[in-house]
Amino acid sequence: MTAVETPVDLFAVTGEERERAEAHARFAAAEAARIPDLPAGTPLRPVRSVAVIGAGTMGGGIAMALANIGIPVTLVDSDAQGLERGLARVKDNYAGSVARGKLSAQDMERRLALVHGSLRIEDVAAADLVIEAVFEDLALKQQIFRRLDALARPGAILATNTSGLDIDEIAAVTNRPQDVVGAHFFSPAHVMKLLEVVRAARTAPDVISTLMDLGRRMGKVAVLARVYPGFIGNALFRNYTREAHFLVEDGALPHEVDAVLRKFGYAMGIFAVHDMAGNDVGYQTRKAQMATRPTDRRWNDLILKLCDLGRLGQKSGKGWYRYEPGDRTPHRDPELEDFIVAESARMGIVRQPMSEEEILKRCLYGMINEGAKLLELGVAQRPSDIDITYLTGYGFPAHHGGPMFLADRVGLDRVLADIRRLHARYGDWWQPAPLLERLVREGRSFTDLQSAAA
Ligand SMILES: NC(=O)c1ccc[n+]([C@@H]2O[C@H](COP(=O)([O-])OP(=O)(O)OC[C@H]3O[C@@H](n4cnc5c(N)ncnc54)[C@H](O)[C@@H]3O)[C@@H](O)[C@H]2O)c1
Repeated sequence: MTAVETPVDLFAVTGEERERAEAHARFAAAEAARIPDLPAGTPLRPVRSVAVIGAGTMGGGIAMALANIGIPVTLVDSDAQGLERGLARVKDNYAGSVARGKLSAQDMERRLALVHGSLRIEDVAAADLVIEAVFEDLALKQQIFRRLDALARPGAILATNTSGLDIDEIAAVTNRPQDVVGAHFFSPAHVMKLLEVVRAARTAPDVISTLMDLGRRMGKVAVLARVYPGFIGNALFRNYTREAHFLVEDGALPHEVDAVLRKFGYAMGIFAVHDMAGNDVGYQTRKAQMATRPTDRRWNDLILKLCDLGRLGQKSGKGWYRYEPGDRTPHRDPELEDFIVAESARMGIVRQPMSEEEILKRCLYGMINEGAKLLELGVAQRPSDIDITYLTGYGFPAHHGGPMFLADRVGLDRVLADIRRLHARYGDWWQPAPLLERLVREGRSFTDLQSAAA
């Protein structure tokens, strides 16, 4: 540590730093494909045809991503209307691309001819790969995998698009856990560049290599993760949203948090994102978790309360913001702000003014700390995999190079000092990651860690 500390501007980067961040992103995208512990020359399994189970938001997008590279897809849904809606959405999406001049009418017809709907799960029998994308419900997914185990041909890969459920528990209901893997696409799946490939405890090497290769063929960056709640991306994202919500209870208003995130470079702030996605996403899961969650720490249920007030987001005209009919521009809503201030008072929190820097640190440093935990657990292979996950799947501003790259720019000693300060003040969520402490003790960075591993 130098005697005179030069403050780091978290918000701005120099031209040179921007170039370094861009070079890092290119490196990270290439590096993600490397899996050192797969036996050299691991073969690929053939993927000549795919069945996608669940024709909802994700299933339809996944079917398009496959049809786009010439792979025939059977899109299966148990609900006739669900299937019809799913197929119509695929058609509409392609028609939209044709209308915008991005796709020829001929190519649209070719791709549409590759997507077949079915109401019979028995139709998975011919597929080399099955991708399950039904509701996020472990019991339902297990039920589907029991059927797949009975119906799919031997050697078929059985993938789940779960956003974070325990894939080992899904694999365990089959007699072929070696064929089970996570294929976590992002919405819209035919557009988003990220594919998290999740290896479960018993996933076979050639299943991993086949999924990684399929991701590349679809024009995506495939990042390998291990089973962990939320894998890489959503594990960090939990930390990001948690702090944003605590900030609102502690003294900042949603538009202030969002303004800081936009100033940092995000296209949208987190509260505007919630309103766009719908505050009721995950409502049932959150409600169900309330009974069993650890009591040694603080929780935040504002988003559930907003739903109970009918503030679902853009679709109901109000959420964290208020919306004029037919317009997606978020406006501050005094009613919501009064509600937040009253909630703080009800919880006995004395609201404090929050500086822009403090808002940003609380949103980012929890992600960095979690990233260090994932590296230690081996959930992520390397720091740059976390960065590329964030750059391609979560809208992290490109000029900052990803959360781990940003941590190195700031200096891990400074990041850790803030995490310790936040830990002392806010408690358990901020427990410093042992790996971060070790790196600081040794005077090393995430880049050093990565070079050593390579
Ligand atoms: N929406 C997202 O942004 C997103 C992103 C990444 C991952 N995921 C995950 O993808 C999965 C699907 O999410 P979604 O948003 O597409 O859901 P969705 O509600 O849009 O679609 C689910 C579809 O599954 C069908 N289905 C339900 N039970 C079925 C069964 N037994 N057999 C066949 N089909 C059945 C439903 O009829 C529905 O059409 C979930 O596990 C979710 O966590 C979602």
